[in-house]
Amino acid sequence: MRLVVTGGAGFIGANFVHTVIRDRPDAQVTVLDSMTYAANRASLDGLPGDRMELVEADCADAAVTDRLVAELTGPDDAVVHFAAESHNDNSLATPWPFVHSNIVGTYTVLEACRRHGARLHHVSTDEVYGDLELDDPAKFTPETAYSPSSPYSATKAGADMLVRAWVRSFGVRATLSNCSNNYGPRQHVEKFIPRQITNILDGRRPRLYGSGDNVRDWIHVDDHNAAVLRVLDAGRDGRTYLIGADGERSNLEVMRMICDLMGVVGTGDDPGFDHVTDRPGHDLRYAIDARGTRDELGWDPRYTDFRAGLEQTIAWYRENRSWWEPVKERVEQRYAQTEKVLEEGA
Ligand code: NAD
Ligand code: TYD
Repeated sequence: MRLVVTGGAGFIGANFVHTVIRDRPDAQVTVLDSMTYAANRASLDGLPGDRMELVEADCADAAVTDRLVAELTGPDDAVVHFAAESHNDNSLATPWPFVHSNIVGTYTVLEACRRHGARLHHVSTDEVYGDLELDDPAKFTPETAYSPSSPYSATKAGADMLVRAWVRSFGVRATLSNCSNNYGPRQHVEKFIPRQITNILDGRRPRLYGSGDNVRDWIHVDDHNAAVLRVLDAGRDGRTYLIGADGERSNLEVMRMICDLMGVVGTGDDPGFDHVTDRPGHDLRYAIDARGTRDELGWDPRYTDFRAGLEQTIAWYRENRSWWEPVKERVEQRYAQTEKVLEEGA
């Protein structure tokens, strides 16, 4: 089995590569990653050089992508397309890289797959469906209408539409998956959970947007990747698979759990963390109905205890300071600037 894993030096992609190398002894992996700020070479440490190769290039570079996809000639070979600009806050400040990587990048991957008859699995997000009310009994299903809110989710939605069109118009063999919020080791410290963990480890105050009522549906990254592998093994071309682990929690609840697990104790009116100006257009709630995927593929999440998964994640950041410390200060400086602009506009 030969896989081209785009975005394989990012959070989910790197964890995917570790899983594949561990669980599929016959697999050869080529990581195609442009090594943006979100990538980390150290995320690929420990992988065997004779089974994993890193090609540092933009997946929107047609010549490179075409050359790598041309090598996918076996029946189980595939492109697993994780590469994307992935952070909502950045997409509000600077949308263009999102259009480039998420739309032009996906277009380029699709054209290479079309030319060489290669199979594609496209990794997407539940954010393409927009958001739900807190008390809405319905969750997202593959039939939910697309209604993205931010430049990030809009460009992911555009990419999904391109994949579906290439399946229908050109017969490209592709599957799609839309997953909820991931957590776990090797996630960039700009994202909610690692930001709070590393703030506490660094002696900084955790930062909660607005009231913290917003709900995210958390899934451990290894559960997401196990589902992606099941789609590769047994998914049907043209199908969309929703991946989620019934992990709905408000941000306030997650924040309190992190503080509790890390020994941050509030005093009086001070909860031990700061409420900061809310993200503009902040989606209220995401929730995935993954029953279709579970029934069809026989996949089930293993990390059903969120507190235990969080504890394991905290331990990873504690033990791997050299992985995140070099970028932490820069990320916090950027957030401080954003907070200032939002406060002035409020
Ligand atoms: P990430 O930002 O941690 O990693 C993205 C990787 O893609 C980085 O290594 C980056 O260098 C690379 N990349 C970006 N643009 C590229 C380009 N043009 N060419 C080649 N490489 C490029 O993101 P992540 O959290 O690992 O997300 C991976 C995928 O999963 C994305 O498609 C995202 O939309 C999707 N997803 C993420 C989540 C989540 O909670 N993080 C949930 C559902 C779906
Ligand atoms: P994030 O990790 O950026 O993922 P997404 O925007 O894709 O859901 O944020 C998760 C939630 O946490 C989201 O509701 C915004 C919120 N949040 C904070 O409250 N504080 C923070 O410092 C960050 C980065 C996010």
